Amino acid sequence: QKNVGILAMEIYFPSLFVQQEAMEVHDGASKGKYTIGLGQDCMAFCTEVEDVISMGLTAVTSLLTKYGIDPKQIGRLEVGSETVIDKSKSTKTFLMQIFEECGNTDIEGVDSTNACYGGTAALFNCVNWVESSSWDGRYGLVVCTDSAVYAEGPARPTGGAAAVAMLVGPDAPIAFESKFRGSHMSHAYDFYKPNLASEYPVVDGKLSQTCYLMALDSCYKRYCHKYERLEGKQFSIADADYFVFHSPYNKLVQKSFGRLLFSDFLRNVSSIDEATKEKLGPFSTLTVDESYQSRDLEKATQQLAKPLYDAKVQPATLIPKQVGNMYTASLYAAFASLIHNKHSTLVGQRVVMFSYGSGLTATMFSFRIRDCEHPFSLKNIATVMNVADKLKSRHEFPPENFVETMKLMEHRYGAKDFVTSKDCSLLSPGTYYLTEVDSMYRRFYAKK
Ligand code: ACO
Repeated sequence: QKNVGILAMEIYFPSLFVQQEAMEVHDGASKGKYTIGLGQDCMAFCTEVEDVISMGLTAVTSLLTKYGIDPKQIGRLEVGSETVIDKSKSTKTFLMQIFEECGNTDIEGVDSTNACYGGTAALFNCVNWVESSSWDGRYGLVVCTDSAVYAEGPARPTGGAAAVAMLVGPDAPIAFESKFRGSHMSHAYDFYKPNLASEYPVVDGKLSQTCYLMALDSCYKRYCHKYERLEGKQFSIADADYFVFHSPYNKLVQKSFGRLLFSDFLRNVSSIDEATKEKLGPFSTLTVDESYQSRDLEKATQQLAKPLYDAKVQPATLIPKQVGNMYTASLYAAFASLIHNKHSTLVGQRVVMFSYGSGLTATMFSFRIRDCEHPFSLKNIATVMNVADKLKSRHEFPPENFVETMKLMEHRYGAKDFVTSKDCSLLSPGTYYLTEVDSMYRRFYAKK
């Protein structure tokens, strides 16, 4: 199959959010800590009527309807999520309700889990299936769905929630450059969820930042190496039009792009100008470990990379800044932001993606954007996702209500035998919501 990739996308995020500015005041943090320090504007969150299953149901139904896809045309459904609702029954099986109704139970695939990387694993599974001899001609469907919540403390403002659904097949407008891929996987305790009684992770914030940047360096080196071997020329940031990063919070994305510039400098690529060489020169003697600790290096690279960041990275930061970390959906929500902002000029361009999941697993890969017919044109994808209206029609809640909601959710996590308020007044039409968890832990949903 040729040009296998993403044919269509839909994104859903909860309509409730808190302002990071208000969170700073509420938490007694210094002014600017969350907005400038972390680079975040708002944070979306699920209330007791929403969870990863309801968000997944909403995203999938909306994608099928808006692109006119018959549920019978789906041959593989893969879910990426790190929000565990059941240790055995996959989230995918909940989504099967949509397909069973139409008589389609012939759908392969289950869930992929490793922190924020599960969505990428799910996407690769679908792409590989379409490229394989077991492909039966139908579409693959990937769902990344997560609710990111943290215990009170410095990590709490880096929460968020969303689901992204992506239709996979050949002749796609968002085509994989499958040959160029660099991965880095290793054993780390930077962010993990060993306490099965709590939804909150155990997180070593500083370590997670370093692990992320180390994985980025390693993946970029391998990506460049593969490119150079196959294309016979150097790869540098000048060779991609956009870079899209997994976005736990925007500041890390700014640091990451600076790091790529430093990597280009160390590899002595031809696109680095003399002024940059001069400014980064003093840092070339740092050991690798020292380079992750150096504040001066961080500042210098961020400053030097700023014009390129504005052109190649900033267009992909809108939704992550407005919604927060969406774990598996973060990278694809960032990509959705790029489509939203640049759909009319993307054809022919290369987009480099960096996926990171703590623990840790990471891959850098790339897309080549192609011109396709309706309904799979970029213009239509942007129209369907309707990001501007979705952001505009949200409801702001004060931090006190957010904290109250978190307390209720702590209580409800893993619980049985309760009915929710069924209050769907703030949900937009077509949104699924949780109505009940019965005495056998069975979950029930309704659609607004
Ligand atoms: N104005 C402007 N900037 C400020 C202010 C202020 N008033 N106060 C602090 N800052 C800056 C700091 O200088 C720092 O920026 P820097 O990194 O450029 O130096 C930034 O705000 C964060 O402040 P810190 O004190 O360094 O960190 P904090 O203790 O608040 O924790 C962290 C931040 C580690 C990101 C925490 O929120 C966390 O653990 N989050 C979850 C883990 C995470 O997302 N890791 C990323 C990869 S793993 C994953 O995807 C889950």
